[in-house]
Amino acid sequence: MWSRDQTRQISRRALSLALSLALFACTGNSQPVTLASARQVVSKYCVTCHSPSGAAADFDWSDERSLMLHRRNIAAKVSRNSMPPSGLPQPDAEERRILLCWAASNDAACPR
Ligand code: HEC
Repeated sequence: MWSRDQTRQISRRALSLALSLALFACTGNSQPVTLASARQVVSKYCVTCHSPSGAAADFDWSDERSLMLHRRNIAAKVSRNSMPPSGLPQPDAEERRILLCWAASNDAACPR
């Protein structure tokens, strides 16, 4: 049987391993994901609709502040493949990684 201390130590190690894996997945080739690169992907695939004159004008991703505020929602849609709507050009694997990484760990692992 493991003592309580050992169990704690193991869960701390597991947590730090999980965090470093997340960081690794996030930084990839060690380039931080900048807001600018996220915006490039968004401009390419999203702002035709997500801008003041588009079909989803209420969610204006051409506006930097709005994009930042909605980043978790954006990541959720992108990771479920529910945005962009099917039938439209979809971001490739690297572009998706950029969006998800920027959104998920904007504050810590991937400095802007
Ligand atoms: C063909 C037009 C179109 C494109 C392209 C498009 N969207 Fe959308 N999106 C919509 C519409 C329409 C809605 C629903 C807006 C509403 O409820 O008013 C929506 C809703 C969303 C929502 C949910 C907003 C909410 O909280 O209800 C998110 C997040 C989103 N889109 C992200 C994206 C991202 C990220 C991209 C690009 C990778 C993208 N969309 C591309 C049309 C589009």
